[in-house]
Amino acid sequence: MAAPSDLAADLRADPPRLHASGSAYWGLAWPALEWLVANVKPGMATLETGAGSSTIVFASAGADHEAVSPFADEHERIREECARRGIDASRLRFHVGSSHEVLPRWEPRPLDLVLVDGAHGFPYPIVDFWHLAPHVKIGGLMLLDDAYMAPVGMLVDHLRTRPSWEVVGPVGYRTVIVKKLADDLPDFDWSGERLGGRMRFDYLPPRERVVASLRHRALSTPTGLAAVAVARRRLGFLFR
Ligand SMILES: C[S@@+](CC[C@H](N)C(=O)[O-])C[C@H]1O[C@@H](n2cnc3c(N)ncnc32)[C@H](O)[C@@H]1O
Repeated sequence: MAAPSDLAADLRADPPRLHASGSAYWGLAWPALEWLVANVKPGMATLETGAGSSTIVFASAGADHEAVSPFADEHERIREECARRGIDASRLRFHVGSSHEVLPRWEPRPLDLVLVDGAHGFPYPIVDFWHLAPHVKIGGLMLLDDAYMAPVGMLVDHLRTRPSWEVVGPVGYRTVIVKKLADDLPDFDWSGERLGGRMRFDYLPPRERVVASLRHRALSTPTGLAAVAVARRRLGFLFR
């Protein structure tokens, strides 16, 4: 069994095909996975929307963890992957279903850490936040993955305007950490703040923003992927 600190590296070296009926790996970005390895502690009360290698990390850390995603076969593969790696999955609970249906009837408990990485279409990340935010402890954290996507980006924009939440900052180029400072409700009126828009990376510092934007666009189009494959062969040092 890998020591917890090696787990992110192990998963990165050999990403398990947990998604899409066992044909794909749609894991959290590696820096966010490494952040989870370093920060999730035994006994923490945690929950994620979506499931995958992050779930394996939560289980490995000994968190009291719940994962919500629609596919029971995905959950089976995660349990099998835990068993294959000698990870105790006894504190792991899965909820089968879409988060917008599961979370309203979820039995709440105070949460130390939430990962929002389930459905990314509008308004699902916001719906996940809405149902879970009241149950995050004061001082607790949420990781919002894929913040460059408008439905997540608008949530980050909104939280910047809320005194009860602190946008702590990015981990890697896709994931944003936010911290709950107080219990409150959003204003009932919109006061003109910008919410969302096109694909944006403006939660990153300016230089990293440009690199992340170019890199992500290159990696998310067929032409970009082909160009990267060639460049990787010729200029491998740039990718290390
Ligand atoms: C990007 S993957 C999550 C990756 C995971 N955090 C990891 O580290 O491997 C997206 C996940 O969202 C799940 N999903 C898709 N639609 C969903 C929905 N409506 N509610 C909850 N989860 C959903 C998928 O089954 C998948 O597990």
